[in-house]
Amino acid sequence: MDSTRFNGRIYLISGAARGIGRALARRVVADGGKVFMGDVLHAQGQALTAELGANARYQPLDVTRESDWLEAVASAERWGPLHGLVNNAGIYLPKPLMAPEAVEEFAQHVAINQTGVFLGMRSVVPALARSGEGAIVNLSSTVGLRSASNAFAYTATKWAVRGMTKAAALELADMNIRVNSVHPGPIDTDLIKIRGDAQNQARVNQIPMKRMGTAEEVAGLVCFLLSDESRYMTGSELTIDGGAAM
Ligand SMILES: NC(=O)c1ccc[n+]([C@@H]2O[C@H](COP(=O)([O-])OP(=O)(O)OC[C@H]3O[C@@H](n4cnc5c(N)ncnc54)[C@H](O)[C@@H]3O)[C@@H](O)[C@H]2O)c1
Repeated sequence: MDSTRFNGRIYLISGAARGIGRALARRVVADGGKVFMGDVLHAQGQALTAELGANARYQPLDVTRESDWLEAVASAERWGPLHGLVNNAGIYLPKPLMAPEAVEEFAQHVAINQTGVFLGMRSVVPALARSGEGAIVNLSSTVGLRSASNAFAYTATKWAVRGMTKAAALELADMNIRVNSVHPGPIDTDLIKIRGDAQNQARVNQIPMKRMGTAEEVAGLVCFLLSDESRYMTGSELTIDGGAAM
């Protein structure tokens, strides 16, 4: 931890109420930053705000709604200049292409994992431009670099996040706004509990380092991409996966 790393700068984090988003909010505050957090899990979001104190604020944010994004950015800017965004909110409902519910769940994945990231980036750019700099980090997955069986919609949207990251990085470089993607392998959060213990253990057995990652480990990498230490990086894709994507 370096309590001077973020020097009071404000970062907007979607899906911050639990999992990787919560670990990230804790780390940004521990490293001297401020977090403006949004989620659809309001009780958990407010509990985290209470835990983190004066350097954290929470506002309901459904990433599929542009009006929620614009209100979140406006509230964050009333607090102070905005320096970054982490598009962390996501869902994972593993189903194959031919599953009976695939059409409905494909649309749900696109709305949250893909349109949510698009709207988030669009909403923060004017505020980051007013700050004179900005860092955007988009959470993709190792599944956004290759594929995985039984996760058709998730795979589609995580590839989209990787592509949107590079398109935005090209467009925004002139504005001193950097955009990078992070590609975690299995991370021990509620997201993957839907798979069940036996399936998760089978997945772990395929990982060279033979364990899942932690939310805190991903938070550390995201903080690197938010910080000045990565100031020459944009359009990059970084894996954090115990070697799974090799
Ligand atoms: N856990 C993993 O193994 C893993 C691996 C690769 C990538 N990721 C990605 O990391 C990110 C965080 O995942 P996690 O593991 O912490 O999962 P999680 O389920 O613990 O947290 C996801 C958060 O997103 C929020 N969210 C869902 N829909 C939302 C919406 N419409 N608007 C706002 N917030 C919403 C949830 O309420 C939750 O707080 C996701 O984008 C996920 O796809 C996770």
